Amino acid sequence: MNRRSFIRIGVAGVSTGIIAPEIVLASTMGKEISRNNMAGGVFYTKESPGRWAKKAGAHSPVLEKTASGVHVVTGHPMNQGKHWIIKHVLLDSDFNFIAENIFDPAKDKAPISDFSLSGRSGAVYALSVCNLHDSWLAMLEL
Ligand SMILES: [Fe+2]
Repeated sequence: MNRRSFIRIGVAGVSTGIIAPEIVLASTMGKEISRNNMAGGVFYTKESPGRWAKKAGAHSPVLEKTASGVHVVTGHPMNQGKHWIIKHVLLDSDFNFIAENIFDPAKDKAPISDFSLSGRSGAVYALSVCNLHDSWLAMLEL
């Protein structure tokens, strides 16, 4: 093993040791909510889509951390008067309400929300509510 390989492996090992617990924690929390008794019935997740098994791809919100908060996107059409995402609701790690963004299918071309969060850490959850296919939950570890 040459010096560069040794350093690369060493950096990767240290990085994994620092970052991996957070990844495992976030992954565990995401799976934990999918194992909740209400998942797949009261609300849905990508892992527990319940009666909407074929709808998960277009309904499960995707959360992304931004410099000022959280960006939430649902890959769902906005067909006015027929089928659209009603709103995104942002919740803290205890499922307390933080904020919501209500969509107007006559004006909003896509269900996209940007929520400002300052000084917050830990898990946040987003609910994406479809007028026909109920509420879908996803989590992001800040
Ligand atoms: Fe839908």
